[in-house]
Amino acid sequence: MNDVLRTLDRIEISDREEFERAVLAGLSRTPRAIPPKYLYDARGSELFDAICELPEYYLTRTETAILTRCAAELARLAGPGCALVEFGSGSSVKTRLLLDAMHEPVAYVPIDISRQHLDATAARLRRDYPRLRVEPVCADYMVLSALPTDLGRSPRLGFFPGSTIGNLEPRDATSFLRRARTLLGDRGALVLGVDLKKDPRRLHDAYNDSAGVTAAFTLNLLRRMNRELGATFDLGGFAHDASYDPLEGRIEIYFRSLRPQTATVAGRTFSFAEGERVHTEFSYKYDEAGIAALARSAGFTIDKTWTDPDRLFAVVYLEAAPGN
Ligand code: AVI
Repeated sequence: MNDVLRTLDRIEISDREEFERAVLAGLSRTPRAIPPKYLYDARGSELFDAICELPEYYLTRTETAILTRCAAELARLAGPGCALVEFGSGSSVKTRLLLDAMHEPVAYVPIDISRQHLDATAARLRRDYPRLRVEPVCADYMVLSALPTDLGRSPRLGFFPGSTIGNLEPRDATSFLRRARTLLGDRGALVLGVDLKKDPRRLHDAYNDSAGVTAAFTLNLLRRMNRELGATFDLGGFAHDASYDPLEGRIEIYFRSLRPQTATVAGRTFSFAEGERVHTEFSYKYDEAGIAALARSAGFTIDKTWTDPDRLFAVVYLEAAPGN
């Protein structure tokens, strides 16, 4: 067996062990919760792509429309010769809208924990932008403290679209933005996509689509635990449960036990009462004051905000506040 294969084996084993540890810890605590990153195995990522196409899930198409409209102005604000640093390896559509508008971008630096996503994104962009330096960084952007790539003195433009910031609890959102502020430097700026507070019915429908794709996305976590950890969840014994809490300003997502039952994970048996829920995701929604407070708490100021005519979604251009 060659060294590369041995390394890949080790990565897969340690990923599996990390998943097992997170599931056992999450099912042992009160209230029960499993971190959202485990929703995104290959099937989960496919289902999320399908969610982005759903009529009820307005977020992706609304953000894309806003970016299409404001890309030239974003590029003007950022100035020529920037390096574009994307947190998460993005859908090529949104990344390209920025790259196509930017004046002489010097590099594109996608940061992603998944080597597979990163390599696929880098290959596509190298093919389509042969003059652009593409420098993928395989890392968890929640803990990355410096860019391993030498970008010289080029100003850095960060990109964090999709309202992924909403999946972070406010404390984690601030610490992520502080980290981004450090990585991007004193001349840096960040383009942030944020889902806005709105009619609760509209929010409810976006996470309870009539085709059941979001339900399949949540319940795929049970399937993944059965497949990768040899767990014994009865896939028909749980339901997707998503609702909007207006006081917290967030969608809360769980899988809910439909009857009293047990499931075994890695040799440990867990009991679930009827109606008991296991938390899988929060999706925070912001208003303008909330976005401003979040930016301020992390050493950014808001330079400009764009929204759609129905004020469903916002794209915000944040600049590093001096002296932070
Ligand atoms: C990735 N993230 C921004 C999505 C959201 O809207 O919070 C994840 C999602 N979960 C269910 N539907 C969409």
